[in-house]
Amino acid sequence: MNDLLRHYAEALEALDAQGLLRRLPPSPLGGAVDFSSNDYLGLARRPKLVEAAAEAGRLYGVGATGSRLLSGNTPLHEAFEARIATDKGSEAALVFASGYQTNAACIAALLDKTVLGAEPLVFADRLNHASMHLGCALAGARQLRYRHLDLEHLKVLLEQYEDSPLPRVILTESVFGMDGDQADVAALQSLAVRHGALLYVDEAHATGVFGPRGYGLCEAVGLAPSTVVMGTLSKALGVSGGYIACSRLVRDYLVNKAGGFVFSTAPSPLVLGAALKAWEMLPHMGAERTALLDRAQSLRVALRGMGLDHGASTTHIVPVILGSPERTMAAKQTLANHGILVSAVRPPTVPQGSSRLRLGLSAAHTDQDMARLLAELARV
Ligand SMILES: Cc1ncc(COP(=O)(O)O)c(C=O)c1O
Repeated sequence: MNDLLRHYAEALEALDAQGLLRRLPPSPLGGAVDFSSNDYLGLARRPKLVEAAAEAGRLYGVGATGSRLLSGNTPLHEAFEARIATDKGSEAALVFASGYQTNAACIAALLDKTVLGAEPLVFADRLNHASMHLGCALAGARQLRYRHLDLEHLKVLLEQYEDSPLPRVILTESVFGMDGDQADVAALQSLAVRHGALLYVDEAHATGVFGPRGYGLCEAVGLAPSTVVMGTLSKALGVSGGYIACSRLVRDYLVNKAGGFVFSTAPSPLVLGAALKAWEMLPHMGAERTALLDRAQSLRVALRGMGLDHGASTTHIVPVILGSPERTMAAKQTLANHGILVSAVRPPTVPQGSSRLRLGLSAAHTDQDMARLLAELARV
């Protein structure tokens, strides 16, 4: 084996020795109940969405054929963005092929020190998603991490740099994907405005599930011009892609400076056709949202009764924190053997010692599914 390949092999062996080796799971078995997906509203297989994808394909083709700045801009891309902006209460919006790409490209562009004239101060929640870290890394920006959801800690850090002339950016998720807890986005925006910071909020797990009409936790917060909201089309909307809702100025800036926008093929019309249909359905899915969140609450009560730790979850994402990677993987396997699919989440996705099963609830789950889950969790 050549030297380079030996390094890769050693890296895999080291992961295996720590119980952290990842493998692709087999495709879900028929009959299994799936708590491992992010299809929170059960939309991914809706015939209406499949039909909307086909219709968009008939009108615009299956592929966008180029980046938006070249051949890939269609009326569908523009109409969807106009709709996102209206529903998010922003001046403008921009869509991307994936949420990961959205965060990596937009955060890197927003933190660009050649544009800002200095390396910005980046205040980031300690548990932000990997794609947000990637954006910071691409910009070469050091993060000042505040304790998870701890706005007092954030305030102390902001005050510590009160006299600094450097530009400031705050990065957070609104619903945290691995813990299922929520940031106070209104309070974060007030803090950001008071300290002259740009606030960037990732609504990947809130889009579709929270907000008066389902458009996320920021929907009820009047957005400041310096707030940038990001979300995905890949979770509750059941499709794939990402979006930014922002001021016209920030959109124009990202169109020019976000590498993942400029140098990447525009999202497929198939995908956007289905995602726009899902987006339009959200205001009419209030009953599904209520049922989903009620079910999550009942699940937490039952878990506590069984002596299992669901952390600080207050949403449709409910972790069962087991501690070690070995115990977590064994529990996942036990459940899988009995037809219940859950995600096992280990470091580095979550901090050391907090390996967990992640239960993603869906409006498509039934009372029987929940009963089966609880019966099997009693074995772990
Ligand atoms: C908080 C958060 N942001 C962004 C992403 C990336 O989104 P996508 O899966 O659409 O690439 C994820 C994916 O899990 C996420 O949890």
